[in-house]
Amino acid sequence: MQTGVTTETTSGAPPVAVALKSANPSLGETPKTAQRIGVPREIYPGEKRVATVPDVVGKLIKLGFSVAVESGAGDLANFSDEVYRAAGAEVIEGAAKLWAASDVIFKVRGPTADEVALMHAGQALVSFIWPAQNPELMQLLAVRQVTVLAIDSLPRTLSRAQKMDALTSMAGVSGYRAVIEAANAFGRFFNGQITAAGKVPPAKVFIAGAGVAGLAAIGTAASLGAIVRANDTRAEVADQVVSLGGEFVKVDFVEEGSGGGGYAKVMSEGFQQAQRAMYAKQAMEVDIIITTALIPGKPAPKLITAEMVRSMKPGSVIVDMAGEQGGNCELTVPGEAVVRHGVTIVGYTDLASRLSKQSSTLYATNLFRLTEELCKTKDGVINVNMEDEAIRGLTVVKEGNITWPPPAPKLAAPPAAVAAKPAAVPATKKGHGHGASAPASSTSTAITFGVAAALFWFIGASAPKEFLAHFTVFVLACFVGYMVVWNVKPALHTPLMSVTNAISSIIAIGALVQIAPPLGAGMPAPNEWIRWMAVVGIVLTAVNMFGGFAVTQRMLAMFRK
Ligand code: NAI
Repeated sequence: MQTGVTTETTSGAPPVAVALKSANPSLGETPKTAQRIGVPREIYPGEKRVATVPDVVGKLIKLGFSVAVESGAGDLANFSDEVYRAAGAEVIEGAAKLWAASDVIFKVRGPTADEVALMHAGQALVSFIWPAQNPELMQLLAVRQVTVLAIDSLPRTLSRAQKMDALTSMAGVSGYRAVIEAANAFGRFFNGQITAAGKVPPAKVFIAGAGVAGLAAIGTAASLGAIVRANDTRAEVADQVVSLGGEFVKVDFVEEGSGGGGYAKVMSEGFQQAQRAMYAKQAMEVDIIITTALIPGKPAPKLITAEMVRSMKPGSVIVDMAGEQGGNCELTVPGEAVVRHGVTIVGYTDLASRLSKQSSTLYATNLFRLTEELCKTKDGVINVNMEDEAIRGLTVVKEGNITWPPPAPKLAAPPAAVAAKPAAVPATKKGHGHGASAPASSTSTAITFGVAAALFWFIGASAPKEFLAHFTVFVLACFVGYMVVWNVKPALHTPLMSVTNAISSIIAIGALVQIAPPLGAGMPAPNEWIRWMAVVGIVLTAVNMFGGFAVTQRMLAMFRK
């Protein structure tokens, strides 16, 4: 296992290194060597995705890399060699040449033994690996003295990692495609219609498991006009189901289903019994069932029994997304669509690949975001920094050493105990609160309050009456503002900024009143310095107001179609 900071790179292939454009030998600078990212054609049977797309090639080049693509790599995702060339990539004929000529390999599926044999020491590989399920592949990779970043091992709980989360983007595409497969196998409309030829009832769709794929399926089925119901062992997803247009169907048994980190846990026998009864009822009522239930590292829970399949109406459809983990339905044949008791059971395990252009584009963007993290200096050289929690989690082999599994993630300090005290002692904070700093001791609190009281007394004794009235309002406003804002979780700061727009406009009105000339004869004109203070106030408020509008606009855009 490696420890400490590692700042070295994988530039171990001089024949392919190209000079960075920014280096200027005439000025005496040593030209830096940029690395080449190679994208081979996927050879797994039926795999249509490609690890980068022409739109992303240009962005990788801007980071300082050169990009090479194996001829035909994008054909099945509708990206021709010509389009890659036009985007600035070099197209190389043959896998062996491409692997030899690349410093960093981007792939979708984990490499086969033959592909691993093409790797050279110092090379880096980014792809799906599934280290827990593929110990032999891990050994093969380690022997080649390479560095491997397994995109499936990204620590998903880090919010910074979301942009690189290929598992999520692939599950989203697959959930969508599952509904399309169901619609293809189903002999009726999804939406209800009233036509001259008669009334068509809407299809009823039941989704088991409302994780990433399940939520995508709920949204898609609802947008097609079906009546959508969903169930999950984690009760906290109920609101998300409803917000996507579905109805959350509860199991008549009280048990906490969350196993931590946003994942489920294995439920008690009592819960499972109650869940089976509810699923049996739904199977009789609905036309389509899409199952996505998964507990990481466990075989897929068997939720749909053969008996339930038999009870479904003829022509009904089941899409079992968990085929690769053994299936959520007892009668699923992984990788195939079969008809059992008049019900079509689709067990395809390549749903993302069936939407290859879309999934390749999302995957390429995830890898580009990862490359940005690996190459913050934008000089075309990756830095596998093991001090970075996201990179550490992803790195399963570092220069021939197996570094998987990563150490347990550092737990965030429990916020409640820290947050309770500082709220009462605003003056002790040094401008970066949110419960991050240590609570003040009782002595320092007493000193702060003593100093504040003395200050108030001094101001009260010497300042004019009008000033005192304004000052009291000002102090109270600061205190109330502090109490309101400081207790808001950081995750809610963006909506908070949009809300504070309203407060800002009040400040702007106050400042405008100060700038304005006297309203009537006999009214005193404001001092010059008050005017200028008001101008500064308006400028600062304008930043907050227009910033707030921009943030609000961006938030609303996320919900617009
Ligand atoms: P996820 O972990 O985000 O969601 C799984 C959901 O199932 C969780 O919300 C969990 O609470 C729920 N669940 C677990 N046990 C349950 C039970 N007994 N009853 C009801 N709900 C239960 O996983 P994600 O990313 O949505 O993937 C879902 C499934 O789809 C996985 O099996 C994954 O391997 C599969 N998948 C299949 C693809 C294909 O081509 N067939 C492509 C992508 C994903």
